[in-house]
Amino acid sequence: MRGADAILRPSLPDNPLLNPSIAGASFLPAIRTLADVQTLAAEGMNAVNALIRTRLASDVVLINRISEHIIQGGGKRLRPMLHLLAAQAAGYGGSQHVPLAALIEFIHTSTLLHDDVVDESDLRRGRQTANALWGNAASVLVGDFLYSRSFQMMVELDSMRVMRILADTTNRIAEGEVLQLLNIGNADTDERAYLEVIERKTAVLFAAATRLGAVLADLPQDQEDALARYGLDLGFAFQIADDVLDYVSDAGTLGKNIGDDLAEGKPTLPVIHAIAHGTPEQSASLRRAIESGGLDSLDNITAAIHDSGAIDYARDKARAYAKSARSALDALPASPARDALAVLADYSVDRSA
Ligand code: IPE
Ligand code: IPE
Ligand code: MG
Ligand code: MG
Repeated sequence: MRGADAILRPSLPDNPLLNPSIAGASFLPAIRTLADVQTLAAEGMNAVNALIRTRLASDVVLINRISEHIIQGGGKRLRPMLHLLAAQAAGYGGSQHVPLAALIEFIHTSTLLHDDVVDESDLRRGRQTANALWGNAASVLVGDFLYSRSFQMMVELDSMRVMRILADTTNRIAEGEVLQLLNIGNADTDERAYLEVIERKTAVLFAAATRLGAVLADLPQDQEDALARYGLDLGFAFQIADDVLDYVSDAGTLGKNIGDDLAEGKPTLPVIHAIAHGTPEQSASLRRAIESGGLDSLDNITAAIHDSGAIDYARDKARAYAKSARSALDALPASPARDALAVLADYSVDRSA
C-alpha cells in the first residue's frame, strides 16, 4: 500500500483501540503507531472528508472536474489530521475543528495546484497533474477557487482571531513561494536561505493547523505557542524529508516524479549541503546542474549527493526538527491525542510518500 493511502485508509480491525482484547486491559492503550493515530482520528477525519466533498461543489463544470481530480487523488490529509488532534489534545469539545480542518486542506490543495504549474510537474498523488491535463491557466484559476472557498468557510466561523491567523499564514506562504522562485538556478543559496523558504512555504501552514487547535480550545498563550512550535518544527522536518525523497524515492512510491527539484534548478538541502561539503569535483558538477537545470545527469547527481553524505545530513536535520517538535508537546497535559501528535512528528520524517 502506498504511504499516501495509508493515512486515508486506517487498518482498523487489529487495532487495540477498537479491540480491547488485544490490549488486554481496561485502560486506554498507548498511541504508538500510525495505525493507532489513524484510529484515534478516524471519526473526525470521516467528517472532514465528507465536508471536503460537499464544499467542493460549484455549478461551473470545469471547477468540479479539476477539484475532484486532485481531491480524489487522495493525499495524506496530514494537515487536517494534525488540526483535529491538536484540538483534541487541547481539550476542545466543540465542532468548529471539522470545518477548520477541511478549509486548511483546501488551502493546501490550492497551493499544490499552483505549485505544479510553477514547478512544471506532471505527476501528483499518482495521477497526472491538473496542469498536465487541463493546462496552466485552468489549474491556477481552480487553485484560486479553492483558496477563496477556504476564505468563505473561514468567514462562516465568525472568529477574527482565526481569520487573522489564516490571513497571515497564507500571505507568508505566498512570500515563501516567491522567495523560492528567486533562488532557482542559484547555486550559492545557503542553508539559511533554504530554511527561510521552507519555513514560509510549508512550515507556517502546519503551525497554523496546530495553533488553531489551541485557539479553538482557548488555551493559555504559552500552550498555544507550544502547539504552534510543534507544528512549525514538524513542518520543517516534513519539507526536508520531502526534499530528500525527491532524490531517493521513485514515482510509484511517491506518487510524484522524482528529480523535479533538480530539473527545475531548485537548490534544496541535499544539494546545498553537497555543494558546500562534497569534493571539489562533486561540488562543481552539482553547481552546474543547479545553474542549468535539466535531468540529463540525475543518476550522477544523486550519486554525488549520496557520496558527499548530504542525504544522511538532511535526514539527521529532519530528525532533529521532529525531536524538537515532540519536545514542544511537553507543555500539554498527557493524553492519547498528544501521543498521536508525537507519532506524527516521527512519521513526517520516516514516511516513504
Ligand atoms: C506536498 O505536501 C507539498 C509539500 C509541502 C512537500 P503533502 O506531501 O502533504 O501532499 P499530499 O496532500 O499528501 O498529496
Ligand atoms: C512544497 O514544495 C510546495 C508547497 C508548499 C505548495 P515542493 O515543490 O517540494 O512540493 P512537491 O514536491 O511538488 O509536492
Ligand atoms: Mg513542487
Ligand atoms: Mg517536493
